[in-house]
Amino acid sequence: MTTRVLPSSTQMVRRDGFSEFNFGQPDPDLLPVDEMRRAPAEAFTRFGTDPLAYGAPEGAWPLLGWLRDRLTAQEGIDLALDEMLGTGGNSEALDQICTLFTRPGDVVLVESPTYHLGLRILHDHALDLRPVPADDDGLRVDALEQALTQLAAEGRRARFLYSIPTFHNPTGVNLAMDRRRAVIDLAGQHDFLIVEDDVYRELAYDGPAPPSLFAMAPRGRVMRMGSFAKTLAPGVRLGFITCAADQARRIADGGLRDSGGSPSYAMGMFVAALCESGDYDRHVARLRDAYRTRRDALLAALETHLPAGCRFTRPGGGYFVWVTVPDHLDTNVLAERADEYRVSFIPGARLCADGGGQRALRLAFSLMKPDELTEGARRLGALIAGA
Ligand SMILES: Cc1ncc(COP(=O)(O)O)c(C=O)c1O
Repeated sequence: MTTRVLPSSTQMVRRDGFSEFNFGQPDPDLLPVDEMRRAPAEAFTRFGTDPLAYGAPEGAWPLLGWLRDRLTAQEGIDLALDEMLGTGGNSEALDQICTLFTRPGDVVLVESPTYHLGLRILHDHALDLRPVPADDDGLRVDALEQALTQLAAEGRRARFLYSIPTFHNPTGVNLAMDRRRAVIDLAGQHDFLIVEDDVYRELAYDGPAPPSLFAMAPRGRVMRMGSFAKTLAPGVRLGFITCAADQARRIADGGLRDSGGSPSYAMGMFVAALCESGDYDRHVARLRDAYRTRRDALLAALETHLPAGCRFTRPGGGYFVWVTVPDHLDTNVLAERADEYRVSFIPGARLCADGGGQRALRLAFSLMKPDELTEGARRLGALIAGA
């Protein structure tokens, strides 16, 4: 008999003894295993065989109904069921939006820095990406205006802006309120869509998250993508879009859903049962406490261990801290030496579409426990100090 050795079935392979700041993924000890065990049994009791059928193209209605009530209450907005869709998470949602709302060569504005894997999805669609710099208050409105002027001079128009305004990946910062309003106004004046990646909204540690662009803008201007990847588990591949009814219809009527029904449909039915049981709210409350403690541990340790001349953001939510190193250093070079110090991070250049980022790096505080984060900060400090 031959034994087959299979590769790891998870994307993340963590190295023993390393301080892995590079993975924007949850600690396996924080995954809701018991809740996820109960949910399918409850879903089959309530929904019969439906979870195993092709799902409605719009998504799992019991989940969309629960989400509609929650978002309406949380955000103080009117939201109709036909303005929502279930998705396979924000990666799938972004890919579908690109498929159905863009053509190759269309201009898409992106923040710089931004979520590097979101950039990969945009590149898959051969879009013409135009980076717009961001600072500690998020996307710079003056730079957005400049980019729009430049486009007008070329006789072109942006199709959409891909933005992560709340607990940004990689910087952890929020787009300031006045900038939120200005970005929405500019989108109206120049007639482009905003694709709002709202994946970290629920992970708010110091009070409620700022209002979404979707909640602030006239309907039709913003397509907001939300996900259960950070609040339940990345493996559930489940999320949602809120948008205008005609935009939702365009996606629901697309060929992909006509053939396969809504993505992650069975999981949507399971998670509907989980949410309605109260398990979701209890779990998110636990996550907020756990991640707040981790964030505080990391910030305190960075304060202690980073050499003079380093700067870092103090996120109110999400997974990430953005560190800036002194002028004479390059984080690509630091990354090459990181194994020696048994530490990892993402160098800023990988997250910047504008060719910058060499003096910055991203740390994730979601995966490691507080004592591991403290040790990781010590190692990072030693790496920077030794360069
Ligand atoms: C900003 C951002 N968007 C999207 C994703 C991926 O979302 P999902 O797991 O729902 O596909 C991530 C995950 O790291 C993220 O940080």
